[in-house]
Amino acid sequence: MARVLLLNGPNLNLLGTREPALYGTDTLEAIQKRTEAVARETGHELIAFQSNAEHELIERVQRARAEGIAFMILNPGALTHTSIALRDAVLAVGVPFIEVHLSNTQAREAFRRHSYFSDIAVGVIAGLGAYGYEAAMRAAAQRLA
Ligand code: DQA
Repeated sequence: MARVLLLNGPNLNLLGTREPALYGTDTLEAIQKRTEAVARETGHELIAFQSNAEHELIERVQRARAEGIAFMILNPGALTHTSIALRDAVLAVGVPFIEVHLSNTQAREAFRRHSYFSDIAVGVIAGLGAYGYEAAMRAAAQRLA
């Protein structure tokens, strides 16, 4: 059994009502519950955390190793395109992760095409909506096996 950290960044607490044409109608709570169910089904434990504050996400990542987190599923929201600080935190702890985006960031505005995380991620899932988190958890379980 491994411990997996599911991290969501700014504005993802608004899922369900936030631009549903882009992000779907599932709430973050529903997504977290489904991802947790997949974690349990595959014999793992999921810890979920969302914050709108960059420093809280950084602090959560910094604690990951000490808390025995073996893998992370990370949707940094808009911090994907801006945060060298969160990237550095992920590099500092060295815990492998999958980057997830509900929308296909490559098919949107030019500023969303660059990610500070993709080149250091195990893999990237984008454009599959809420299913992307479940897919990421299944992929994480495969890597942890
Ligand atoms: C997002 C894509 C980002 O560009 C955006 O800022 C988000 C959500 C996604 O899941 O599609 O907040 O990470």
